[in-house]
Amino acid sequence: MNTDQFLVKSDLKFIDKTSYTWQTPSNIALVKYWGKSNPQIPKNASISFTLNNCHTITTIEFERKLTKDRRVIFDLFFEGKEKEEFKPKIAEFFKRIQEYCPYIFDYKMTINSENSFPHSSGIASSASGLSAIARCLLSLESKIISGLSEEYINKKASFLARLGSGSASRSIEGPLVVWGKHPEIEGSSDLFGVQFPYQVHPIFENYQDAILLVDKGEKQVSSTVGHNLMHNHPYAEIRFVQANENLGKMSKILQEGNLKEFINLVESEALTLHAMMLTSNPYFILMKPNTLEIINKIWEYRKEQNSNICFTLDAGANVHVLYPFKEKENVNQFIENELSKFCQKNHYICDAVGFGAKMI
Ligand code: PMV
Repeated sequence: MNTDQFLVKSDLKFIDKTSYTWQTPSNIALVKYWGKSNPQIPKNASISFTLNNCHTITTIEFERKLTKDRRVIFDLFFEGKEKEEFKPKIAEFFKRIQEYCPYIFDYKMTINSENSFPHSSGIASSASGLSAIARCLLSLESKIISGLSEEYINKKASFLARLGSGSASRSIEGPLVVWGKHPEIEGSSDLFGVQFPYQVHPIFENYQDAILLVDKGEKQVSSTVGHNLMHNHPYAEIRFVQANENLGKMSKILQEGNLKEFINLVESEALTLHAMMLTSNPYFILMKPNTLEIINKIWEYRKEQNSNICFTLDAGANVHVLYPFKEKENVNQFIENELSKFCQKNHYICDAVGFGAKMI
């Protein structure tokens, strides 16, 4: 694997002070990543819809350090307040990327971050959070190194984000991003996410995702613990093969627009992810009774209304309801009238497919 391409080989220009603000999205996987080896190499390829409304906005102010040492100095503010408890994760991220971003030793960084979704909503903020930091670093990099192409910048931002959180590699571009080497996806890599490289059927344009907040608490199983459950898991190897096969199928579905097959594959992927947790040791049940209530209601509605609504799940109890744009009005009514009662404080977030990171 060619990680050399991400090392800094040119001389760096000096600047005293600068600042960048980026808005980067969350994403929802259609074919799931669950299981990795070091350093953040996925056991199978995955694909996700980039979201539009669920995002992080991060500003990093870079101020040249007076001392020349190999310490990474940064302050971290979340929603205007200093957050010491978030610092170890970010410090670890800087440690993992320092080889590729030696300039982080030259500046004191002040990071200000906020999410468009409530922090304790059960929506993973690591994908949007780490991709935002990565994107700010690449803005600095392209200021102090001349001639970096847009393609390289996106690739390296995704590469860095991946080292913070695997799924963050899929939060730089949109509307569909593949991460993980796959024989049927040209240009795909274990090192970074790439835009799905084929023409997508128009039915998937502006596809809707309503996120039903069944459980707003802290994640019951952290990603690190979760991925580790796949080591010595009795079904791991077959799952990795299946996920790669499913990505091949999904690629065809996305190009041809077969919604029945899309629904079947997306729901099966979600349930398989949870099945991996049910059958690991230690074992976990991450769905809540209301998750199942919602799934059953979705199935009933789909049958009765001849709808193309379906669901997917992350590693938690919240439900992502996916549906084509043309069903938006009816499905939004259905969610409000029939599903919101299963959400904590009736809370859900209407989102749709988006196009990736934006400089602000
Ligand atoms: O990026 P991580 O390490 O938080 O893992 C995320 C894994 C899932 O969200 C469950 C699936 C996926 O592909 O996003």
